[in-house]
Amino acid sequence: MHSAGCDLDVGIPEIDREHEAIFELSRELERSVVLDQPREEVRPLLSAVAAATKTHFENEERIMAPLHLKNEDRHKAEHRRLLQYLGDIYEKMNNPQENWRHQLSDINDLLFRHIIVFDMECKNHHP
Ligand SMILES: [Fe+2]
Ligand SMILES: [Fe+2]
Repeated sequence: MHSAGCDLDVGIPEIDREHEAIFELSRELERSVVLDQPREEVRPLLSAVAAATKTHFENEERIMAPLHLKNEDRHKAEHRRLLQYLGDIYEKMNNPQENWRHQLSDINDLLFRHIIVFDMECKNHHP
């Protein structure tokens, strides 16, 4: 995957495919937020991102386990933190006063950063 001039492929096809799919969903989510779509339209897009991300994290942890990466524990903790973050925003959407739009407007950046900081560790370690 190429984005902002940065190659985000980790070299494991299943993981790269899932990253691609998640970014497609999160771009759609971000677009709906920036275009000020009503909450009822944003919510299912957030659900789709959260569901795809949860499944992906489970797959990624299973695939990475045999690689015994140095930052495996921190990486898994970061997965839990991100899922919690998405869940918290979903909760906040029940409250019209909460500034959930602001938080959702940089979801893509958060996911990019996660790949660069954590997922990339497996790039040179897979069989
Ligand atoms: Fe990850
Ligand atoms: Fe990942």
